[in-house]
Amino acid sequence: MAKLLQVDSECRFAHFDELTIALAARLWDLVESAVEKQGRASIVLSGGSTPVPLYNILRELPLPWEALQLCLSDERWVTVDNDASNEGMLQRELLPGDPPVAMVSMARTVDTVAAEADRIDRELGELGARWDVAILGMGSDGHTASLFPHADGLTQALTSERNCVAVTPAEVEQARLTLTLRQLLNARRIILLLRGSEKWRVYEEALAGDDQESMPVRAILHQQEVPVDVYWAADR
Ligand code: 6PG
Repeated sequence: MAKLLQVDSECRFAHFDELTIALAARLWDLVESAVEKQGRASIVLSGGSTPVPLYNILRELPLPWEALQLCLSDERWVTVDNDASNEGMLQRELLPGDPPVAMVSMARTVDTVAAEADRIDRELGELGARWDVAILGMGSDGHTASLFPHADGLTQALTSERNCVAVTPAEVEQARLTLTLRQLLNARRIILLLRGSEKWRVYEEALAGDDQESMPVRAILHQQEVPVDVYWAADR
């Protein structure tokens, strides 16, 4: 029977600190290997709160920061100094020493969210990166990045040849900028980072169904292009 799902592995831990140590070590290896092979490592990083302890470990490692190309999976359309900014979170939690990384900024710099999406889309096109790994989170509604269920802009984000689009989910305060599915699948590997029993339940629900508009994370789980490793810890 053809392999229906692209989940390559499920790594499950009792405690999130065990997960973060194991995943940080794996990412360190992955970065070192990519830099050795191609002179740089290109990584998509999730926003939100779950990855913060992972970022806090990574920032202590002697990574080849000058050879890293980073990009968020998505951003709230706010300036970096806004508390909701994912880029601001990265600066505090991963990059406090302001290491010389290259990063495509998704922060608010222009007058409309559509123009911001066009700027980011253009910069990603010019960059032409192939991501060595994309670290994604998931909301309890089955969104990933800012691919929110039934959101205005979701269909474009799932089907467009663009790299970045604006999405205006009804249930969140700010308009969002998100990498498109095409850009998220422009990765050699995807890591889906989950924590707590509710998210495991949502993950299993996503595996069991195929309607991507109602659970956009399914677009990551039910595809055959990029291996997906799920990392989950039971504790909240
Ligand atoms: C964001 C993230 C988003 C996040 C999920 C889970 O901008 O919030 O990119 O996709 O990964 O909403 O968020 P938590 O990790 O905070 O539960």
